[in-house]
Amino acid sequence: MNQASLHRLLSQKKGKNNKELFELRLATNLTLIQKLFFSLYPEEQHQKYFQKLLNLLPKLFEDRPEELKQQDLDRLKSGNWYQSEKIVGMQLYVEHFNKNLNGLQEKIPYFKKLGINFLHLMPITTRPKGENDGGYAVNNYLKVDKKYGSKEDLLSLTSAFRKNGIYLMLDFVVNHTSNEFSWAKKAMKGDKKYQGYYYTFEDFTIPEAFEKTLPEVFPETSPGNFTYVPEMKRWVMTVFNSYQWDLNYTNPEVFLEMFTNLVKLTDMGVDVVRFDALAFLWKKIGTVSQNLPEAHNLISLFRMCLQVVAPGTILLAEAIVAPTDIVKYFGEEEKRGNECEVAYNASLMALLWNSIATKKTQLLYKSLMHVPPKPKDCTWINYIRCHDDIGLGYENHLIQELGWNPEMHRKFLLDYYCQRLDWSPAMGMLFMYNPKTGDGRITGSAASLLGLEKAIITKNKALMKQSMAKIIMLHGITLAFGGIPLIYAGDEIGTLNDYSFKNDTSKKDDNRWVNRPMQDWDTISKLDDETLPQSKIFHALQKLIKTRKKHAVFADTNNLELYHTGNDHILSFERTRGGDGLLVICNFDENPQVIDSNWIKKLGYFSKGEPLDLVSGKKIGLNSGLLELMPYQMVWLLRKT
Ligand code: GLC
Repeated sequence: MNQASLHRLLSQKKGKNNKELFELRLATNLTLIQKLFFSLYPEEQHQKYFQKLLNLLPKLFEDRPEELKQQDLDRLKSGNWYQSEKIVGMQLYVEHFNKNLNGLQEKIPYFKKLGINFLHLMPITTRPKGENDGGYAVNNYLKVDKKYGSKEDLLSLTSAFRKNGIYLMLDFVVNHTSNEFSWAKKAMKGDKKYQGYYYTFEDFTIPEAFEKTLPEVFPETSPGNFTYVPEMKRWVMTVFNSYQWDLNYTNPEVFLEMFTNLVKLTDMGVDVVRFDALAFLWKKIGTVSQNLPEAHNLISLFRMCLQVVAPGTILLAEAIVAPTDIVKYFGEEEKRGNECEVAYNASLMALLWNSIATKKTQLLYKSLMHVPPKPKDCTWINYIRCHDDIGLGYENHLIQELGWNPEMHRKFLLDYYCQRLDWSPAMGMLFMYNPKTGDGRITGSAASLLGLEKAIITKNKALMKQSMAKIIMLHGITLAFGGIPLIYAGDEIGTLNDYSFKNDTSKKDDNRWVNRPMQDWDTISKLDDETLPQSKIFHALQKLIKTRKKHAVFADTNNLELYHTGNDHILSFERTRGGDGLLVICNFDENPQVIDSNWIKKLGYFSKGEPLDLVSGKKIGLNSGLLELMPYQMVWLLRKT
């Protein structure tokens, strides 16, 4: 039983007021908090900071708005809302969607029309002018950047979201600040206290020792992991861009300040906090400084403390790391279920792209079967595209087991997606190619990567049909897989690559901007014209979302089982709840494929005659005992008791 489950039980105690329930939560988490804190900050030197933390928690609770305290209790009582089949999300850039926060609020009816009730807004806080990594270089964790509006606008938005049953996710860029953040500015002026908030060094000796094992995140644009700052006459650790300074969490004051920022962010009505780049939170010479045990303790410490103050809010792990490392962010052993409630299913995402390029699903099966099961209170964010690149983070030994050479295989994928093969329908771009290692990543919008752009340019109707089927199938998988499906804004209407970044000096070196388009309201105004490919995609997704919300079997209760069909082009999995079942079957090939249907019958899907496919609305018929799937067809079969 994890700590959240204990809080759920405690919240049902009769006759306790809010403050008393807070005290109970603190008492319940205290042993763990203490253990985690002293594992990072040894007791001998740091007792005073632990005392500070104990003083801070009640103060932060006191400051939490009453309405949110009530909501926290309601959520505790109602269970894991984030695992519900009723939740469907969208990720968007506020300024690309509709001007600013007020503009976004005006679009609530659009979200309702599609069935969206969970929104991830890309960073909206103040950031440096010019290059700022799309706002991931943070000047202040709580101040809304003028271009989005004001704090009042944000509060009005979160209040409107609450009224409309929309959950809000915002980023907490927990690993680094910008070089314009007040702490960085003081550090630059020579203030030793704030120099200690970052990893700063007077010469390159320690950086050099770090560099021996640190990989590079942006090797093309920001090689190395340290930047010399002449104003300060010191080197500072900058794992991402040179203007993003890594916070030094070996300093307990940094933890206390960042925890305060975190709570205040949730006090504005944020339901889910996206812990950005959290794999990087702890650094140690001689290691890659990712996924270190201390980083997990630190995240769990944030979680355990936040749970005491704001138990209705949850954490999302943005850990784009190896599949077996991602699940660790749900917590292991005594931290199991006590770290992040949600994590990006980056593995599924990358594997789906692999299956599209290879038209085969073996690596998908092998990798999914290789990942240890997640704790029952945790869930995934399932997605196919986001604002970032697609990394090819597959396990080499699994690629090898298929008889493929990992390096050659990755090269093939880069060639396939980044326009190096004439026959490939994909129109992506190569991102951060590192000639030293041969590693590279892929950018591009879902629709362009899936052939829609090429189909439109070449006026190829067959390709267009194929591309739309792929788009719908991939989204359908994220809707059915279990967890929160997250549609990247624009993908619901098949938005193509946006090449305008090439003319903007602050963006031209970062081609992730090719997949950060403006929302196309002109196309959206024509959605009633069902002949347009964009309308077809929109309406297909709208229908799938509606279907998902109707059936409790879509809720994530760790109820997923993979089925091998004997056909390497097919992906099939079943979700079950009580006696009900949902069987998903997808064909990743450009040709029709058949599978044996006996096992489907054995599972009971034909017990009441030919079953209805919820995707096409047609009954499934069998030819000579075989089930036939058209190219890129996805079937959803429902079994009801
Ligand atoms: C995350 C964001 C990415 C950003 C990085 C550094 O990975 O998704 O866009 O560049 O963090 O903050």
